[in-house]
Amino acid sequence: MTRFTMAALPSLLLGAAVLLCGGVAPLTAETPAERDARMAWWREARLGMFVHWGLYSGAEGVWDGKQYGGGVEWIQHYAGVPADAYAARMKPLFKPRPGFAREWARLAKEMGASYVVFTSKHHEGFALWDSKVTDFDAKDFTGRDLFKEIVAALRAEGLRVGVYFSVIDWHHPDFLVKGTGLPHPLQKHPEIADPDAGRDWNRYVRFMHQQAEEVASRYGKLDILWWDYSSKETQGDRWRAPELMAMVRRHQPRILMNNRLYHSENVSGDNLSIFDVAKGDFTTPEQHIPATGMPGVDWEACMTLNGTWGWSQHDFNWKSTETLIRNLVDIASKGGNYLINAGPLADGTIPEPIVVRFRELGAWMKQYGAAIRGTTANPVGAVEWGRITAKPDRLYLHVFQWPKDNILTVPLKDWRAVRATMLADPEQVPLAVESADGTAKITLKPAFQNPYASVVEVRVAR
Ligand code: GLC
Repeated sequence: MTRFTMAALPSLLLGAAVLLCGGVAPLTAETPAERDARMAWWREARLGMFVHWGLYSGAEGVWDGKQYGGGVEWIQHYAGVPADAYAARMKPLFKPRPGFAREWARLAKEMGASYVVFTSKHHEGFALWDSKVTDFDAKDFTGRDLFKEIVAALRAEGLRVGVYFSVIDWHHPDFLVKGTGLPHPLQKHPEIADPDAGRDWNRYVRFMHQQAEEVASRYGKLDILWWDYSSKETQGDRWRAPELMAMVRRHQPRILMNNRLYHSENVSGDNLSIFDVAKGDFTTPEQHIPATGMPGVDWEACMTLNGTWGWSQHDFNWKSTETLIRNLVDIASKGGNYLINAGPLADGTIPEPIVVRFRELGAWMKQYGAAIRGTTANPVGAVEWGRITAKPDRLYLHVFQWPKDNILTVPLKDWRAVRATMLADPEQVPLAVESADGTAKITLKPAFQNPYASVVEVRVAR
């Protein structure tokens, strides 16, 4: 055999294996070290910005004069609106301003986020990219490929690009109404005797794969594919998930994917037993922070800023900046990432209550980001006064309750404190530390108190 044909042998064998497995390419075999390298930037990031933006943004949580609560990106389902009527009413309201994506990217950067995950397509089925397999997309009536604009803007700010992709589709005529364990607007119409007549699931799944391939293949390097979501009845093989994930990896070998092509208890509970790397790279507790973290598991807590993902004109229940910062610290101290949501208006503008909070969070991150980014979970045990994050040679003490006598008690296990400073002190003057029996008593400087979380950096050695 010539050199050339020898070199071709592995791919020939792979090709044969693919054929034998019924045309399904196997998931790339990866060593734990390779996986760690692929996950590294994400594990360091700790903070991301989620953006929910689609046609629903124009409804603003109101349909036919009635206000809906909860996540109002679901308004089509809540109000039981058939796909055509929904599209007809929503399209005219969706008018992206030029340059909106740059504002998102700048805000994410200002907030201290390392990545942004945006809804390229939510359950309503409307695609922000120029899809060749449907005309229910932005290009067909705004004349713009909004996906492309967003990706370019994020890249220009040096942010990692995450794409949210809904496998649920209320617009597609083949997506089943009943029996999936998933929502569908026509479920609100019991008068329709057989809403699934003529619907063909396999045809839908083929369409969904085509759309996912458009996203994965056309816009250069993407960093995250954020699938949403599955039920017990409709998950994994029902989506042809192994094949779908293999296709994405073929186009994007370094991409990270969440595990929502499978039903995961972690979305609403903390059951760790079901995490499996074959089903995704990380898991996504939603609207809650796991009580004790998830040791050994990559997780990202996604949360709304008020009570909804998509913009609502009547939800004023905003989390305070203090809550955002303390959630971030809490999550980092448990080894997770925090994905905080913004729901822009239909023209792409991020509303003021969101901007204000993200900027305040950013101001804190600017000063204390070293105590968040690149840190790992608290290695010494819970403390009453706040939270602890760590790097190999140091601990960061995040003080939520400042001690009355200015003396902070810190469990150090078998470490010893080499030097402690207030992270905000420009002079980095060492603090007085007294150590005995695995406990250090550190005298804090009230001048460097921060109302959200004051941070002490302790260099440690064994
Ligand atoms: C849920 C909701 C959805 C939201 C998502 C964010 O799955 O269906 O509206 O986009 O969670 O985590």
